[in-house]
Amino acid sequence: MRILHIASEIEPFIKTGGLADVLGSLPKALKQLKNEIYIALPFYKDLINENLKHRGLKSKLKKIKTIDIKISLNNKELKGRVHFCKFQGINVFFVENNEFFNRKNLYTHIIEEDGEVKVADYDDNLLRFSFFAHSIFSIIKIFKLDLNIVHCHDWQAALVPILAKNNYKYLINDKTNFIFTIHNLAYQGIFPKEQWAYTKLPWKLFSMEDLEFWGDINLIKGAVKYSDIITTVSPTYAKEIQTKEYGFGLDGFLSQYSHHLHGVLNGIDVEYWNPKTDTFISNYNYDLNDTSNKLMLKMEFSKKYFKQNALPLIGMVSRLTEQKGIQFILEDMDKIMELPINLIILGSGNKNFENSLKSYEKKYADNFHFENGYNESLAHNIYGASDFFFMPSVFEPCGLGQMIAMRYGSIPIVRETGGLKDSIVPIEGNAGTGIVFKENSSKGIYKAINSIFNMDDKKSIMNNCMKINLSWRASAREYMKIYERGKDL
Ligand code: ADP
Ligand code: GLC
Repeated sequence: MRILHIASEIEPFIKTGGLADVLGSLPKALKQLKNEIYIALPFYKDLINENLKHRGLKSKLKKIKTIDIKISLNNKELKGRVHFCKFQGINVFFVENNEFFNRKNLYTHIIEEDGEVKVADYDDNLLRFSFFAHSIFSIIKIFKLDLNIVHCHDWQAALVPILAKNNYKYLINDKTNFIFTIHNLAYQGIFPKEQWAYTKLPWKLFSMEDLEFWGDINLIKGAVKYSDIITTVSPTYAKEIQTKEYGFGLDGFLSQYSHHLHGVLNGIDVEYWNPKTDTFISNYNYDLNDTSNKLMLKMEFSKKYFKQNALPLIGMVSRLTEQKGIQFILEDMDKIMELPINLIILGSGNKNFENSLKSYEKKYADNFHFENGYNESLAHNIYGASDFFFMPSVFEPCGLGQMIAMRYGSIPIVRETGGLKDSIVPIEGNAGTGIVFKENSSKGIYKAINSIFNMDDKKSIMNNCMKINLSWRASAREYMKIYERGKDL
């Protein structure tokens, strides 16, 4: 099959979260199943170049062709370029428009409002990603792509199926199936209706049956309606988003499409995330047969950050948002830090969360470390060094942190929701892979952390974790079944 994936983040070019991991690994797995794979993403020029240089990957990216494109949007002619490249056997289209994409961050900037420093979305996000979506059709036309599958991910690519079924019908083969994957329903691509002209969609689509949502434009709503198949990243999340608690107002609409909605659990790139070969922990590589280096790594790592290095080490690598349960951790931080543990949190996001964590770091300098920012190397060291990995999410579509942690023998402590529920088996004696709790509160979190002291056979649990097959193979096959059955599904 010829399959085009469209997303705003793809490893190893650019990443802010799990979306990039998935786009860096699912296409590779699909290629191994003998498909021709294309991927398209915005060209965040400086960020991508910096990343490739830093990882020594520049020479692996082969540029084949650059073409100029023009998209008329909002009564203007917007110019851009498409760089067609090959990367590890995959066809990559980078969509360049430096005014839109060559910025410091992908979606947000820092503003000062009422004397407070805040993170805010760029005002022109709809225009930026509309330009990206329209450019996909220039790519399809100019490169004469005859595609079986166009697979779009999250709100940044949500306009593609809508445009395909309205503005660009003439360009699209009837047999092409459009798949849309929801990675996180908390981000639906909602914009004021005054920006409708940016989409170039016919005005009649601003209706309750289409993109209108409480007077605003909702891109995910449109993608759900106009895609042939909708998937999300775990079976449990597929059910949850059809409920009021997890549906972010779209539950009723999604329920109408439940016959098209499938949950497929993500995998991880087990070659990249491999404690045996991970270059970020090169002095301490280990595997299931011999984990002694993991203990050495923990000791060295803990010496650097904490007063006592033998205490149980709990790690967390996370975006700092309410989704991840940070508010509940902060609520009981004093109680948590009285426990005989070392805790390290790496992350960035909500400024209030960052500031609170910074002040707790001063207060509990002996056994709490907060590293503010995005840091690939430290993330690998945390997965490798920690005894436990903490993910007390309020909701979690899939979650990759807990899977990476298992691969590194760090036992997950997770709330029973979404993909966390689907990927972690609660511990019973020496069976199971993690501590799973239900209660969505600081009390629930505190109890869960406390239960690490009642674990009789930590070594067996760690082994169970490291034995799990987390590769994409099974899930890529599941996607193939979905692709093959296409519109008949
Ligand atoms: P989400 O996509 O909701 O952020 P996931 O668990 O699916 O959550 O994926 C998060 C990915 O991003 C993991 O690969 C994790 O290691 C990585 N990550 C998150 N925050 C950071 C950070 N501050 N530094 C480095 N990696 C991070
Ligand atoms: C989103 C979700 C996360 C999921 C990731 C990849 O960012 O928050 O749970 O693992 O997408 O699908």
